[in-house]
Amino acid sequence: MNIYTVQNYEALCTKSADLISELIQSKPNCNLGLATGSTPLGIYEELVKRYKNGSLDFSKAKSFNLDEYWGLSQEHPCSYSYYMRQNLFDHINMPEPQRNIPSGTASSAQSECFLYDQKISEAGHLDLLILGIGRNGHIGFNEPAQAFNMETHLVELDTVTRQDNARYFKTYEKIPSHAITMGIQSIMNAKQILLIASGSGKTEALSKMRNGQIDPSLPASILQLHENVTVIQDVDAAGLSI
Ligand code: F6R
Repeated sequence: MNIYTVQNYEALCTKSADLISELIQSKPNCNLGLATGSTPLGIYEELVKRYKNGSLDFSKAKSFNLDEYWGLSQEHPCSYSYYMRQNLFDHINMPEPQRNIPSGTASSAQSECFLYDQKISEAGHLDLLILGIGRNGHIGFNEPAQAFNMETHLVELDTVTRQDNARYFKTYEKIPSHAITMGIQSIMNAKQILLIASGSGKTEALSKMRNGQIDPSLPASILQLHENVTVIQDVDAAGLSI
């Protein structure tokens, strides 16, 4: 793993946006894997800026989001589909048919998961996948479990995940109990992974990811087996702040 520790969140966003921009400029028809949550927000803001100043063109790129809450429609303000439009898609020129996010309201979760994996394999593989990391070591919504779940699947969200995401919902009960998440296989098939982490809440998970056993109880530990992972963390996440 290539690990970069930067001074603060702003530097994390600039460095991450540089890496993503390099790919889009060298391979305009690339497949991007995208995360939601708070960590990528500043990166998306930076990418939008670069699109608006003419240095980035998303017209040929495709995107595949990691996950979506089960039960939330695309129009729900807490859905990841809504988040992506608000924070990225409404401000860049990636055509709608090229953007992929699992549907949280498909009539069958099982067939939605199957179709999502099919779409990713039809695209080939992800050229660059942006991953955040949960305090419990989840990647996408691959939660701590007894075995790595390779396929896109419906998952019951961990208590830690629901607590961490409670800030977006009016009451704890309103947080969806399940989500559809990309599985470990598509994650590991990505040519390059960019894992971003900010804040001291991530220090323990990051350390276990790098130095612990490869174990499904800490899903991110599987990344030790990937050949091209770049971690960009701020000093707080690295555990270096005073
Ligand atoms: C989001 C996702 C999650 C988040 C993780 C970190 O699409 O898949 O794995 O990346 O929960 O979230 P933040 O960035 O809010 O700390």
